[in-house]
Amino acid sequence: MRTLLFAGLLLSALPSVAHEGASGIVKERMDRFKETKEQMKELRGLLKAGDTAAAGALASQIAEWARVLPEHFPEDSNPAPSEALDDIWLDWDGFMKVANDFQTAAEAMAAQPSMANFKPLGGSCKACHDSYRE
Ligand code: HEC
Repeated sequence: MRTLLFAGLLLSALPSVAHEGASGIVKERMDRFKETKEQMKELRGLLKAGDTAAAGALASQIAEWARVLPEHFPEDSNPAPSEALDDIWLDWDGFMKVANDFQTAAEAMAAQPSMANFKPLGGSCKACHDSYRE
């Protein structure tokens, strides 16, 4: 039991360790993505609670991040510990497409907050991570 608890603590400490050494625009976008993850959890809760007004406002914030996301990836800005893949710059059009899909999904959620719109929004995160993140 104690060993399990210890293993759990170690695992939960890993993400912050991975951030050590990140600076400038890389740190900024990592922080922004971490915040997005929290916002997605909050969004799900608000949708479940039926608070569409707050869900819509939160989705607008996510959409705003989506809009400026590409600017946070200047060419070759992936020194360690960044998990961004070179493919982002080798295939900038493809990266822009998944970034735009993310923006579209977030805007759809802002316009009409619903569980039906949650799945495509979450899917847009995954689509980009699958191709452009380690
Ligand atoms: C257009 C591409 C793209 C989209 C869309 C995207 N991400 Fe990411 N995400 C990345 C990349 C690339 C990284 C790695 C950044 C780095 O390490 O330099 C990343 C990193 C992350 C991280 C890790 C941050 C850290 O280092 O602690 C989280 C969490 C995350 N994204 C959540 C999300 C969520 C949630 C969504 C959707 C609501 C999302 N992302 C949408 C490309 C994307």
